[in-house]
Amino acid sequence: MTTESVDELLVQGLQELYYTEQQLVDALETLSDQTDDEAASQGFSEHREETQNQVDRLEQVFDQIGEEPRTKEEQVVNALIEEHEQFARDNDGDVLDRYNMSVGQKTEHYEIAAYGNVTSLAEKAGYDEAADLLSESLSEEEEALDEVTQASEEFDQQQLASD
Ligand SMILES: [Fe+2]
Repeated sequence: MTTESVDELLVQGLQELYYTEQQLVDALETLSDQTDDEAASQGFSEHREETQNQVDRLEQVFDQIGEEPRTKEEQVVNALIEEHEQFARDNDGDVLDRYNMSVGQKTEHYEIAAYGNVTSLAEKAGYDEAADLLSESLSEEEEALDEVTQASEEFDQQQLASD
C-alpha cells in the first residue's frame, strides 16, 4: 500500500497509536495483576487509567483534523504483547516482575517515539490544538517511563542487597 504524502503519515501514525493504546489498556491490566513488586504494579495500574484518557484524547485529535477515528494494526505493539505472553507462560516470581518492568520500558520508549512523530507532523500541518493534545500524551509517556525505570532500579538495588 502506497502512502501518497507526508501529511498522510500523520493520519496513519494516529491510527496506529489509536490501535496501540487500545491494546495497552488490556496489557497494562495484565502487567499490573501479574507483577508482585508494589511500586511497579501500582505504576502499571495508574498508567492504565492514563491510557484510557489517551484513547479519548486521540478521538479528540481525529475530530480536530476532520478524520474518523480508525485503528490501523501496529506490528510493534503486537510483537511486544506476544513476546510478553510467551515469557509469562514459562516464568514467574522475581524474574517475571523484572521482565515486566523491562517490557514497560520498551513500550514507553516506543510510544514516546510515536507521539513525538505525530506531534511534530501535526505542528507542521498547522493543527496546533491537536499538537498540544498529543504533546500532553507524550509528557505522560515520558513520566511513565521515568516511573517504571525508577521501579526497576530500586528492584535491582533490593536484589543486590539480598544477595
Ligand atoms: Fe500510552
